Amino acid sequence: MGHHLPLLLLLIMCKSLEAWNCTVSCNCTDFTSSCCGPQKTRLLPIIGHQNATELVLDSCGSFPMDNNTLQNFRSLEELIVKRTSLLYLDAHAFHSLPMLQTLNLTQVNLSNAAMHQNAFASLLIRRLFLAKNQLDQIRRGMFAGLMNLEHLDLSGNGLRSIEENALANLVSLHFLNLDDNHFVTITPYWFGVMFRNNSFPVVSLIGNALTCECKYRGMTLPEYQWFSRSVILTNFSCMVNLTVEECSPPRVEEIYKEVTVRDLQPLTLSCPLSGFPRPRVSWTLPSGLQLFNKSFPPFYNVDGTLYVQLVQSKFAGLYACMATNVEGTAVILLNIVVSPTPEPPFITSRPVTFPTPQTPTISRSLWVLLWTAIVFICIIFLIILFCILRVVCRYLNQHLRNDVSFNRFVDTPNILALPENPQPIPHIEERHGHVRWSRENGDDTVPRVVVHTDGSYPHHQQTATELESGT
Ligand SMILES: *[C@@H]1O[C@H](CO)[C@@H](O)[C@H](O)[C@H]1NC(C)=O
Ligand SMILES: *[C@@H]1O[C@H](CO)[C@@H](O)[C@H](O)[C@H]1NC(C)=O
Ligand SMILES: *[C@@H]1O[C@H](CO)[C@@H](O)[C@H](O)[C@H]1NC(C)=O
Ligand SMILES: *[C@@H]1O[C@H](CO)[C@@H](O)[C@H](O)[C@H]1NC(C)=O
Ligand SMILES: *[C@@H]1O[C@H](CO)[C@@H](O)[C@H](O)[C@H]1NC(C)=O
Ligand SMILES: *[C@@H]1O[C@H](CO)[C@@H](O)[C@H](O)[C@H]1NC(C)=O
Ligand SMILES: *[C@@H]1O[C@H](CO)[C@@H](O)[C@H](O)[C@H]1NC(C)=O
Ligand SMILES: *[C@@H]1O[C@H](CO)[C@@H](O)[C@H](O)[C@H]1NC(C)=O
Ligand SMILES: *[C@@H]1O[C@H](CO)[C@@H](O)[C@H](O)[C@H]1NC(C)=O
Ligand SMILES: *[C@@H]1O[C@H](CO)[C@@H](O)[C@H](O)[C@H]1NC(C)=O
Repeated sequence: MGHHLPLLLLLIMCKSLEAWNCTVSCNCTDFTSSCCGPQKTRLLPIIGHQNATELVLDSCGSFPMDNNTLQNFRSLEELIVKRTSLLYLDAHAFHSLPMLQTLNLTQVNLSNAAMHQNAFASLLIRRLFLAKNQLDQIRRGMFAGLMNLEHLDLSGNGLRSIEENALANLVSLHFLNLDDNHFVTITPYWFGVMFRNNSFPVVSLIGNALTCECKYRGMTLPEYQWFSRSVILTNFSCMVNLTVEECSPPRVEEIYKEVTVRDLQPLTLSCPLSGFPRPRVSWTLPSGLQLFNKSFPPFYNVDGTLYVQLVQSKFAGLYACMATNVEGTAVILLNIVVSPTPEPPFITSRPVTFPTPQTPTISRSLWVLLWTAIVFICIIFLIILFCILRVVCRYLNQHLRNDVSFNRFVDTPNILALPENPQPIPHIEERHGHVRWSRENGDDTVPRVVVHTDGSYPHHQQTATELESGT
């Protein structure tokens, strides 16, 4: 009987706790429940106090949240989760909270992957705070049916896009905070294509690097003038630039195409698409390798067109062209079927030629070859020129020595103008074909100048010699 006592006590304790309906890990007052905290451990599910209006989950570690996590919170109006990581937000996670008005899920490590598409759908809440999470896009349906929502905070996420109509039917929305995200383009189509005649929300987009490359879609339509007026931006200057084309996402004509090519033929795959600004195109090869603007011989991605130098049967497979601009992404799948050539010897003997602009490495090696040839020819030309000059000089030397009287030149003051402080005229003496020249004062530090016996000495000394012999 005695050893049943602790069990009985525990049962009584549990009963009393149930009466209070405050989970051991929480700290409950009449209207506020505060759970976890530094010294408390988390215990799930969290059972509420019938009249509690506020629940704070502070420092609760990480846990997934579904419709069973919070129980008996029928009066709860405000739920605040902080310093906690929500591993997964299930559909209907908050549907057991019929009175919920404010849901604060700031900085709970929420990503698109870590939440059900309809986690918030159809809640009757008025304020939703999802700041500083890892959401990267807002899909249609995520905020569907939030008829009472007045304040939506999505600041400090990595948001790049909001699908068209994703914010439609938020008829009570007053303030939408999209600050400090990664938006490059904005459009009132987020709020649906219908004319919106209720009160218009203020949309804050401070801290986004919006593009000036294109005009934002729908902004110039008269029914969306409210958007231009109610949007708050860091930089208004490029919001509606009438001189530029309207932004548009990449669009493709056909999503899938089959292309049959012959073995050992060059192949050109283009990615037919529209969109502004001009989309950047990357190609994914059947091997999974993705080529952006780079090439991976024998595959060349040149301005979005894929060239294959020489198709081999192993190159067959699915090629994906992905085009991306500020407005979105489009993908075209091309199934390449390689048919073997019927007469391989005939085909292989046929030279396969590529137009030079299509094959950058070939044209590059051609250029290198061309330049090498030009340099080589130049060198040979210079050598020949040098030889000719040498012969001509030698001839002229002989000619001048015999026929030209240098006195004529010497007498001309323009040819040998004397400096203002004339140096003493060098004294030059010739001995065994060597010229030794020194100043009148006998300064012997001046180097000797060697004159070849064949007379091919430099012009300057030649003149001096002629000068001396002439006088
Ligand atoms: C419960 O909450 C009150 C007020 O917030 C606080 O003063 C008290 O220290 C808390 N008790 C525990 C055990 O956490
Ligand atoms: C405690 O919770 C149970 C359900 O879990 C509920 O039936 C009961 O009314 C609650 N008691 C109080 C005092 O809130
Ligand atoms: C909840 O509030 C009602 C009145 O609003 C009261 O009658 C009831 O006793 C309260 N319940 C608890 C568990 O405090
Ligand atoms: C929770 O959701 C599941 C389905 O997702 C459902 O079967 C279950 O009844 C729900 N529980 C409550 C308490 O609403
Ligand atoms: C939401 O919670 C964060 C802490 O997680 C707090 O800083 C912020 O002020 C809260 N927002 C509101 C509107 O209560
Ligand atoms: C946040 O989530 C990512 C994965 O989505 C995970 O790698 C990371 O550890 C989480 N951070 C915290 C603080 O739990
Ligand atoms: C918008 O205006 C139309 C008629 O112009 C009206 O039928 C509709 O109820 C209005 N909607 C709102 C939300 O005011
Ligand atoms: C605003 O945009 C214009 C045009 O792109 C740019 O010259 C200017 O520096 C920007 N101002 C700020 C504060 O970013
Ligand atoms: C508008 O676009 C034109 C053409 O691209 C550009 O020259 C001009 O600077 C832009 N104006 C503003 C205010 O960004
Ligand atoms: C090639 O792509 C890189 C990033 O992928 C980019 O920084 C670079 O400017 C691109 N070059 C050209 C010529 O488009």
